[in-house]
Amino acid sequence: MAWRLFEEQDHAVLYQKYRLPSPSQIRNLVLSYLKRKKGKPFTLAVDIGCGPGQSTRGLASYFEQVVGIDVSGAQIEEAMKVDGPENVSYRRGLAEELEFEDGSVDLVTAGAAAHWFDMEKFMKEVERILKPKGCVALYCYRPPFELHYNDCSEQLTQIVQEMFKTLGPYQSEKCHIVQNEYKEIYHAITFPDKESIQQALGASSSETVLETKWTAFCLLASKP
Ligand SMILES: C[S@@+](CC[C@H](N)C(=O)[O-])C[C@H]1O[C@@H](n2cnc3c(N)ncnc32)[C@H](O)[C@@H]1O
Repeated sequence: MAWRLFEEQDHAVLYQKYRLPSPSQIRNLVLSYLKRKKGKPFTLAVDIGCGPGQSTRGLASYFEQVVGIDVSGAQIEEAMKVDGPENVSYRRGLAEELEFEDGSVDLVTAGAAAHWFDMEKFMKEVERILKPKGCVALYCYRPPFELHYNDCSEQLTQIVQEMFKTLGPYQSEKCHIVQNEYKEIYHAITFPDKESIQQALGASSSETVLETKWTAFCLLASKP
């Protein structure tokens, strides 16, 4: 079963405004893995659960074509409003039914999204659409998050940690997969050649003028 909690227009608008682009450290990790396992040319990357496209657009300079896929029409609408690079396009679609030719894709990514997928069906599609030695990268982030701004970093961090503690019991059960650092997802990846990497990250957002620090984990696997 796929989970669909991000469908509304107002949700998509907030995502467009406030979500940070995928961290460059994660992108570099994924690209060097793909280079090592498959090598160039990098023709087609597909970003599943792309939301309003922050995670998709960051791949544009490295591939001939990048396609963002999301089950939510509102998220795709928001993504399409951005004057993005010309080689990036977006389509509404399901992670479990990917409309790409067999053996046509170099890289499949999913940022903060794979825990919502039906992993068994998703992996069948990944196996089908990837080129030989093509790669899949599934990454996400876990609290505690630190927020930094002038001299109120400590209070801000305390507020965000309190927020997680208070809302935690009401989260979807799927969020446990994130707290568990994607261990279930690692086991659901059917390619034997796979690895799991953790990375401490920092980023700043021009909208909020805040600096953030948190931990990302990234699962990387390569098709035989
Ligand atoms: C937390 S957002 C991540 C957005 C973006 N990748 C990022 O890193 O900013 C998760 C997205 O996955 C999408 N999604 C959830 N289940 C999906 C599925 N089965 N197929 C395609 N997209 C899905 C949601 O609609 C949502 O836009």
